[in-house]
Amino acid sequence: MYRTHTCGELRLADAGTEVTLAGWVQTVRKFGSITFTDLRDRYGITQLYFNETLNPRLDETPIGREYVLQVRGKVIERTSKNNKIPTGDIEIEVSDFAIMNVASTPPFTIEEDTDGGEDLRMKFRYLDLRRPTLKRNLELRYKVNRSVRNYLDTQGFWDIETPYLIKSTPEGARDFVVPSRMNPGQFYALPQSPQTFKQLLMVSGYDRYYQIVKCFRDEDLRADRQPEFTQVDCEMSFVEQEDILQTFEGLFKAVFKDVKGVEMTEAFPRMTWEDAMWHYGNDKPDLRFEMKLQNLKANDTVHWEVLNDTDFKVFKEAETILAICVPNSSEYTRKQIDELTEWVKRPQIGMSGVVNVKCNADGSYKSSVDKFFSEDKLKDLATFCGAGSGDLILILAGAETRTRKAMSELRLEMGNRLGLRDPDNYKPLWVVDFPLFEHDEEEDRWVARHHPFTAPKPEQTELMNIPERFGEIKANAYDIVLNGTEIGGGSIRIFQRDLQEKMFAALGMDKEEAQEKFGFLLGAFEYGAPPHGGIAFGFDRLCALLGGQETIRDFMAFPKNNAGRDVMLDAPSAIDDKQMDELNLKSTL
Ligand code: AMO
Repeated sequence: MYRTHTCGELRLADAGTEVTLAGWVQTVRKFGSITFTDLRDRYGITQLYFNETLNPRLDETPIGREYVLQVRGKVIERTSKNNKIPTGDIEIEVSDFAIMNVASTPPFTIEEDTDGGEDLRMKFRYLDLRRPTLKRNLELRYKVNRSVRNYLDTQGFWDIETPYLIKSTPEGARDFVVPSRMNPGQFYALPQSPQTFKQLLMVSGYDRYYQIVKCFRDEDLRADRQPEFTQVDCEMSFVEQEDILQTFEGLFKAVFKDVKGVEMTEAFPRMTWEDAMWHYGNDKPDLRFEMKLQNLKANDTVHWEVLNDTDFKVFKEAETILAICVPNSSEYTRKQIDELTEWVKRPQIGMSGVVNVKCNADGSYKSSVDKFFSEDKLKDLATFCGAGSGDLILILAGAETRTRKAMSELRLEMGNRLGLRDPDNYKPLWVVDFPLFEHDEEEDRWVARHHPFTAPKPEQTELMNIPERFGEIKANAYDIVLNGTEIGGGSIRIFQRDLQEKMFAALGMDKEEAQEKFGFLLGAFEYGAPPHGGIAFGFDRLCALLGGQETIRDFMAFPKNNAGRDVMLDAPSAIDDKQMDELNLKSTL
């Protein structure tokens, strides 16, 4: 038997027991004839006490960091206790030990705070995974997985696997492709999601499907994006939007309760896409704080008259002027304001400056554009914005889309600076009524806002015949947002062949192309397709947020780096000529 107990298990009540433990050596501390060692495994850390009189071999066979060790000994009470770890009241008085494997000196310290840089830790991911931080993250991931499965099981969902070697499914990103040896010159695509399969399962009658499934998307990476990520993918038949929102709000609440012990009793708020864009500047508002965007250039409002009556060109010429009221910040110094100006000028934000109005505690108003606006006008403006004493009003002016985006970023930045984005404060939100189409200005064509299988609102179906009005069509599409991150999205689907064909046509696909790409789905719709809809959650994102972080990488066992590389495997990499020949591939490099 390798061990009688784990390294996280023994307590004072076990004192006197003879035990065998096995694990990795975390530290070795030698004091004359006695040596203390911390032995680590997945369950915890236990201190070992080696006394040379009991263990004369320790000198001949010294042990080092990360050696795999088996020890036998007695549990004894520690003289100096460590209340930071659960086993901190005891130690093992070692009577015998065996080195099960030696280890080279690890390239970084395997502790909570490591000295290893990101690249090094990615290269030696199997060592990084020994650190408690990553271990906790993977434990959390497992718990979320279990909770999701339990909940969906109680709701009658079946887990059904779908293939990875498929034909392209458009979800807005590029496909990863796999050459087929048996079909020279032809390629499979890896699924960006199981979207069409889950719809086919509905046609087959498998109402209530789910899968915790890998999806593959060749897109530019960010903290919350990986080329290969996991979705909780779900679909239901004979449902309306409301049924789906209810079912998956239930899923969320169950996960929060199981994993975080947080009871979410209230219904999740809902916001239309339009309101989200106007009040928060983006479609995934962080509701942990207010600071709503105020639109200062709506023609029908008094404040625009106030602002227009001036020589200040920036405002006069701007397409859009937006403001936020930052609480308790009227005492921002010149230096802080200058720094904020530099912040909005960064290329990612792209504004030429930021106007400020300080609503001072003594009732006076001070602004960076004092010379264009009297104090009375500033006061009017502050009243319109709902600013209180002590607030700092920040104003951005410029082209609509850019200004809205910039203001949304500035709002989040100010939220950060004021400490209003506490990771333990969870604010979920449904964003509903997304537009069905989006106009791609560069290519001057309509693209699906969600994906081409999303149905228009039933009362707007007729508008699918009028291209000039495509922009007005809303979909029964919804996203679930948590603390400013989109963690899931879905829709009610088209289930009639003629409407699906109209959709493909609206997206610029002619009949032949639609038949070639989606003939299987159009065909299936002729054999009794039920009304259906569904949703998919970004499982990695959900785990990261539950772990209080935004970067999903550390919630995956073996992630890719920012360039999409697995630096441990050194993948992607070239393949040899024989493999290339078999696959009928030629490199032009
Ligand atoms: P969507 O494309 O919105 O919908 O994806 C669903 C959720 O998956 C997560 N996600 C990602 N997570 C990590 N890395 C990525 N590269 C990545 N891309 C997306 C997000 C997102 O909300 N088939 C539809 C769902 C449906 O209609 O049912 C779909 O895939 O959290």
